[in-house]
Amino acid sequence: MNFRLLTFLNLLLFSTCSSSPPNFVLLFADDLGFGDLGCFGHPSSLTPNLDRLAAAGLRFTDFYCTSPVCSPSRASLLTGRYQTRSGVYPGVLYPGSRGGLPLNETTIAEVLKPLGYATAAVGKWHLGFGANGMFLPTKQGFDQYLGIPYSHDMGPCWNLTCFPPDVKCFGMCDVGTVTVPLMHNEVIKQQPVNFLDLERAYSDFATNFITTSAKKKQPFFLYYPSHHTHYPQYAGPGAAGRSLRGPFGDALLELDNTIGNLLATLEETGMINNTLVFFTSDNGPELMRMSRGGNSGPLKCGKGTTYEGGMREPAIAYWPGTIRPGVTHEMASTLDILPTIAGLAGATLPQVMLDGVDMTDILINQGKSKRETMMFYPTDPSEKYGLFALRLGKYKAHFYTRGATHSGSTPDQDCPAFAVLKAHDPPVMYDLEADPSENYPLYLEGRPDIQAVLEQIKNVKEKFEASMVFGESQISKGTDPNLAPCCNPQCSPRPSCCHC
Ligand SMILES: *[C@@H]1O[C@H](CO)[C@@H](O)[C@H](O)[C@H]1NC(C)=O
Ligand SMILES: *[C@@H]1O[C@H](CO)[C@@H](O)[C@H](O)[C@H]1NC(C)=O
Ligand SMILES: *[C@@H]1O[C@H](CO)[C@@H](O)[C@H](O)[C@H]1NC(C)=O
Repeated sequence: MNFRLLTFLNLLLFSTCSSSPPNFVLLFADDLGFGDLGCFGHPSSLTPNLDRLAAAGLRFTDFYCTSPVCSPSRASLLTGRYQTRSGVYPGVLYPGSRGGLPLNETTIAEVLKPLGYATAAVGKWHLGFGANGMFLPTKQGFDQYLGIPYSHDMGPCWNLTCFPPDVKCFGMCDVGTVTVPLMHNEVIKQQPVNFLDLERAYSDFATNFITTSAKKKQPFFLYYPSHHTHYPQYAGPGAAGRSLRGPFGDALLELDNTIGNLLATLEETGMINNTLVFFTSDNGPELMRMSRGGNSGPLKCGKGTTYEGGMREPAIAYWPGTIRPGVTHEMASTLDILPTIAGLAGATLPQVMLDGVDMTDILINQGKSKRETMMFYPTDPSEKYGLFALRLGKYKAHFYTRGATHSGSTPDQDCPAFAVLKAHDPPVMYDLEADPSENYPLYLEGRPDIQAVLEQIKNVKEKFEASMVFGESQISKGTDPNLAPCCNPQCSPRPSCCHC
């Protein structure tokens, strides 16, 4: 029997046999660049489990997140909508932010709940905390949550970067705010979180969730957004000092180890052949951290920019027996994960304007993408400027470019913050297949073919922008230090008394 037919029968089987809908494990790295994984060409990263997923699964070369920073990218991943619609912009949420991912947005977890899925989030949330934890994962369709509610540098981390004592202290985190808490559902379990033990706690929680769901014969959705490999880089005892790449490599190895534990649990519970495992990252590498930051490989710039390095990410889909090993050059995005999961599970799509398309055909048949465009919004999207860039097929046109602090410390003068906002008329165009590094702008003069592509891009842009309704900005609602998580709410003086 050929593989396609087998796959078709397999799909038929679980779509007609309600007792075994597929499980989903969604792995999301942080500030991890296109060039950071062993299976994407990094020479000194140690990522044996991710490499195993890539070797036996489908590796994407043209996969995009929707924002070059964290919170907006996560909003799009979980809703299948550009962040401009949900209002998770500009920039990112902070410990005392008043806003968060609006509760009337429908997340992947909420799409799956009506079908009886068990849902859990473990790791870094960063879609809001709010008054009384009103924006936590348990309010967004997740039955269970263990994790830190925002980035681990959003609190004094002096003890993290300076411990163990023989590790050189490198850089500062946010002082003057509460220490980073560990949340269990809506309750603060530790404050400050024990960073060196965090990965083990995550791994135990996640493997336990898989085992319990499997025992109950309940289909499950596990969302694991890791705090690795965000600044500051560190690893617990299982990975510290064990990679060739220094602190960044150790942090990445620690994430990879957990992925190995999850895979082993899927195998032990017999779930491995009925689970789609999907891995990608929230945005490009934070190049300002130099050798302690990530790497965008051949792509231009990194975090904070709308060049390829800011938003094109490594991605891997793994599902033994259903997804054939291979590499796809089809364009796909984090936006497409919600519709794909919904389609595979037989769930109803939310009745909202979705920007994602179902990529099942890419996964199962290595077929063509339904996605023709990718929109590039800056960290601070506005109706005034609109899209900074647009990719149509293999062509990308930059209408505006700007460097970013996050992409400082690179020899390319277009990446750091002193490369100020520049409008381009005509737009700067690249052929991303011939020139993925965006090094060689296409000439428009004497090239009616390229001019025609540009006209097409302008039309697509105009139509898209005319239909875009910006949601009320959640992040512009500002912060209130009293909203920051505190395990000891009545104590004073804040923030130092928030310590349990
Ligand atoms: C959520 O509520 C806000 C405020 O009422 C509204 O503007 C927005 O369109 C709603 N979003 C969805 C997805 O229904
Ligand atoms: C860091 O360690 C010092 C000394 O052990 C301690 O006094 C301080 O409270 C710790 N700070 C944090 C943020 O945990
Ligand atoms: C998964 O499928 C493979 C190939 O058919 C088989 O060898 C393996 O035993 C299956 N694993 C489980 C846990 O069912």
